[in-house]
Amino acid sequence: MSQSPFSISGRTALVTGGAKGIGRTCAEALAAAGAKVVIADMDEAAGQATAKELGGSFVKLNVTRKSEVDAVAAEITRQHGALDILVNNAGIVQNGPSEDVAMEDWQRVIDVNLNGVFYCAQAFGKEMVKAGKGSIVSISSICGSVTVYPQPQAAYNASKAAVNLLTKSLAVEWAKRGVRVNAVAPGYTATELTLAGRSKPEWFETWMRMTPMGRLGEPKEIANAVLFLASDAASYITGTVLMVDGGYTAM
Ligand SMILES: NC(=O)c1ccc[n+]([C@@H]2O[C@H](COP(=O)([O-])OP(=O)(O)OC[C@H]3O[C@@H](n4cnc5c(N)ncnc54)[C@H](O)[C@@H]3O)[C@@H](O)[C@H]2O)c1
Repeated sequence: MSQSPFSISGRTALVTGGAKGIGRTCAEALAAAGAKVVIADMDEAAGQATAKELGGSFVKLNVTRKSEVDAVAAEITRQHGALDILVNNAGIVQNGPSEDVAMEDWQRVIDVNLNGVFYCAQAFGKEMVKAGKGSIVSISSICGSVTVYPQPQAAYNASKAAVNLLTKSLAVEWAKRGVRVNAVAPGYTATELTLAGRSKPEWFETWMRMTPMGRLGEPKEIANAVLFLASDAASYITGTVLMVDGGYTAM
């Protein structure tokens, strides 16, 4: 019997920000589907613990430091060869009105959510291009396509919109070289990142009213989409941004 195109058995996958939340659940889903998983996170304690639980390995990485990304990519390539799967998941959010936003806050969000994605895509993608195969999936957001309401977060929204076009740009550049590049755009998902917003009734009620399914997404529902795009089942899909949002962007 031929192997299912949904299988990623024996492939090597690295998940940035894989210690917690959506990244952790992606790592879990990839490991359950047979991949060797590397958790790359700046939170060493949580990252080590997650890697141990999943039977994967851990590498300390702050995606905003290009030299660190390049060094980690060189070491991972030395150990495993080119990655088969890269999940660019590390991300942060910062809320605040644009007229007052501090430049350090603006810069931090752009550094993690946009520059970090590019540094990793470049360092690991270069090896994938050389090997002639690989799949990169970045975690964008509904905020890359629409402005969410009522919380002001221009830097986050702009960073995710940039991730969407970066995804398409790399997809086109590498399309004939065996490397697919896609993004998954979650709606509001039950992780630490949304805890503060969920505790504000006026925000949470608006979020749920604007989500046709009327509920939060579960990290597992995001991870399943990532697993699909990472696998050969998505072999003709590149440059796409897959909404996993309970219908949010359909309204
Ligand atoms: N939770 C949501 O509702 C939601 C919705 C849309 C998109 N997203 C996106 O999903 C991704 C994951 O979000 P989450 O909700 O799981 O967040 P989370 O805060 O629960 O986890 C984020 C993880 O990323 C790590 N991280 C943060 N900065 C890092 C850096 N500079 N280098 C390496 N690791 C770093 C953290 O240590 C943590 O383990 C983010 O890109 C986020 O923007 C989340």
